[in-house]
Amino acid sequence: MYTDLKNKVAIITGGSKGIGTAVSERFGKEQMKVVVNYHSDEEGAQEAVELIEKAGGKAIAVQADVSTEEGNQALIDAAIKEFGNLDLWVNNAGMENRYETHKLPLEEWEKVTKVNLTGVFLGTKAALNYFLEQDKKGNIINMSSVHEQIPWPTFAHYAASKGGVKLFSESVAMEYAARNIRVNCIGPGAINTPINAKKFEDPEQLKTTTSMVPMQRIGDPSEVAAAAAWLASEESSYVTGITLFVDGGMTLYPAFQGGKG
Ligand code: BGC
Repeated sequence: MYTDLKNKVAIITGGSKGIGTAVSERFGKEQMKVVVNYHSDEEGAQEAVELIEKAGGKAIAVQADVSTEEGNQALIDAAIKEFGNLDLWVNNAGMENRYETHKLPLEEWEKVTKVNLTGVFLGTKAALNYFLEQDKKGNIINMSSVHEQIPWPTFAHYAASKGGVKLFSESVAMEYAARNIRVNCIGPGAINTPINAKKFEDPEQLKTTTSMVPMQRIGDPSEVAAAAAWLASEESSYVTGITLFVDGGMTLYPAFQGGKG
């Protein structure tokens, strides 16, 4: 628990499932006030709200399309109206679909980059404007992936979006560091979330993915949420422009395990 987080106001996009719900619950345990954004899964967002409130925080669910300026504005407006303030914006909403690149429809490329990259830009822009207008310090956390670093065949559009999130975040971190606005990424590896549910139900797939993780296990969403809480808190006050990988070592070139090569 980080005592400085109590009563801090956060927006989390894509809070209705997976890592978004785990971060929401953790923020509840930190007794924060949270705007839980969802796109279409209202029920999931309501569950996240309940988890936050049960844990001791306050929360509302707000529908918005994060790939639009109006959507992001609606989230800021909700935070101000409901909680009177904003301290932290977590750009978490994301999506992925497997396609061979020579068959990848342009619409799919646009859909994925619009949510994963344009959404991060628009959320960051909305947060920056609020922090600058209020002349207050600010904190932005962008949910990236190990695939901001590791190439991923048949997910080239996803990897491109995450690579974009990395350099966008580093650039913005540098641009606003002197204004006391921190921008960091979290890079989850293979985590037990609905996005991966089908893949990990298949024992062969589960074995393959696990073998690519030096810690030899799939991560729990709460382990990603713990990283978010640290980056949100003042305990990380001198940290900006990093990606904190939460990946059991997946980014460490696991093909070399055991001294191979
Ligand atoms: C993806 C997961 C994948 C993991 C490791 C994440 O960014 O969302 O589907 O299992 O990377 O490859």
